[in-house]
Amino acid sequence: MAEKRTLLITAGPTREALDPVRFITNRSSGKMGYALAAAAVEKGFSVILVSGPVDSSVIPPEGLAEFVPVICAAEMAEVVKTRFPAMDAAILCAAVADYRPKVVAQNKIKKKEGELILELERTEDILFSLGQMKTGQQKLIGFAAETENLAENALCKLKKKNLDWIAANQVGLPGQGFQSDRNEITLYGVNGEVIPLPLTEKKLLAKQMLDAIFQ
Ligand code: CTP
Repeated sequence: MAEKRTLLITAGPTREALDPVRFITNRSSGKMGYALAAAAVEKGFSVILVSGPVDSSVIPPEGLAEFVPVICAAEMAEVVKTRFPAMDAAILCAAVADYRPKVVAQNKIKKKEGELILELERTEDILFSLGQMKTGQQKLIGFAAETENLAENALCKLKKKNLDWIAANQVGLPGQGFQSDRNEITLYGVNGEVIPLPLTEKKLLAKQMLDAIFQ
């Protein structure tokens, strides 16, 4: 029997600590990444799912090769970069924080009179890093959330991050995207492919996406 193809998927938000009780995060539910993981298992892949903290109602699918929960962007970067060399492909769906607090206070920050100014620093762009590591045999797929110039911005990211495919979605539309069960994406391939996948359940969309990318 042929060996199973291996696929790494990231999902969910990250949490960037400010002090022992506070963090910066975003509205990602993890639903799209988990749907992709379920569809990939179904399609016969050996799947590693690396996930930021999601609600307990979002459950890892059965049949994963490995489930790795992480909290912050640095932790996700470490796990993903360690595992990527052994993978046939990776789909980075996580909404990784682009910035984190420059200083993480050891003790709870106490309130004072006046304003508090937070200094933030960039996190590692994990997708970009994998684009640098990628071999000719590996496929790398990213997501792009855009409020404007969808095609132009997505194609720019595809090139800059050395991707094979990018799944672009328009954010800010009611009833789809972040936290919703439904979404609409357009897939752009490195060879000029443009594949619109109209608004549907994330579970079906995940299957359509994998069918389009992996024959
Ligand atoms: N990503 C990542 N590591 C980061 C940030 C993003 O791996 N630190 C990945 C996401 O998983 C997603 C893609 O990169 O696949 C999104 O790229 P990004 O350039 O962050 O997109 P936007 O959030 O749309 O960025 P921008 O602020 O440039 O519009």
